[in-house]
Amino acid sequence: MSKINHILEASQFGIEEIERIFRMSRSLSSIDAYRLTQVLPGKTLACVFYEPSTRTSASFIAAMTKLGGGVIPITQGVQYSSVSKGETLEDTVITLGQYADAIVLRHPEVGSAARAASVSPVPIINAGDGIGEHPTQALLDLYTIENEVGRSNGVEVCFVGDLANGRTVHSLLRLLSMYPGNRFHLVSPQPLTIVGRPLYEEVRGSIGDVVYVKRSLSEAREVLRRSDVVYMTRVQKERFGDPKEYDELKDSCLLTKELVSSLKDETRILHPLPRVNEIPTSIDSDPRAAYFRQVKSGLYVRMSLLRYVMTT
Ligand code: NCD
Repeated sequence: MSKINHILEASQFGIEEIERIFRMSRSLSSIDAYRLTQVLPGKTLACVFYEPSTRTSASFIAAMTKLGGGVIPITQGVQYSSVSKGETLEDTVITLGQYADAIVLRHPEVGSAARAASVSPVPIINAGDGIGEHPTQALLDLYTIENEVGRSNGVEVCFVGDLANGRTVHSLLRLLSMYPGNRFHLVSPQPLTIVGRPLYEEVRGSIGDVVYVKRSLSEAREVLRRSDVVYMTRVQKERFGDPKEYDELKDSCLLTKELVSSLKDETRILHPLPRVNEIPTSIDSDPRAAYFRQVKSGLYVRMSLLRYVMTT
């Protein structure tokens, strides 16, 4: 049996393979609409989301459609699927694998994508497994960094916000730590840190400053000023057992126009989105705000990834 190209975690790719995927993303972004539809004609992608999504689901659907394929969208809530009747993840995946050539899966449990891959007859693309990983987001984040900063090594990245629960942070840290010379600053309130967790040990050699914010993000002004990339995240409300704890932490790391004005001109602000209130809309027009360009990059990187899982 030939090998199935699952995408389960950010560190599964080698640097050369990532460069191939990015070269394909660039070339797909410049092909005319008609020729694009000849890339995956007749192929079908199932999108199964057990958690809410706007960008990830929409970009995969748009990517598949532009490449000439079709989509089975179970993205409006699995409550409308047989999951609500008690069907297991495994049975859902095996079933969808009879109709589709790949399955994009978002699920609240860490390890769910690997579980799905162990029974799936077609590639599984992990679109977020709880607080675990979100590898396609990390790849599009890295692609954005390459486009915006001009390189993927020797970059100082300041991660801000909910580093404990943010799966995009976890995947991007793993991915960036494969490249030489990258340095990570960690800025969060103390309860939302990754210090002391297994991931911290994995990337420890690349950690620069750790700042525990008590009242406001301006306490991290110095590291923000030194960074090439400021990677903002929202505090992940849905991961808190105690709403009081969320309320205490939710406004701890808010970016302000004044803080942005103290960044280097070349610094880029990224955010996987959705934002809540950590970036005011008044910052959107600043040339350093790259998060909507990051959204656009997601389309091309996901097109390239769909081609990769369905044709190689
Ligand atoms: C992120 C996610 O779902 O992990 N969103 C995304 O896919 N772009 C980030 C988040 O929900 O905060």
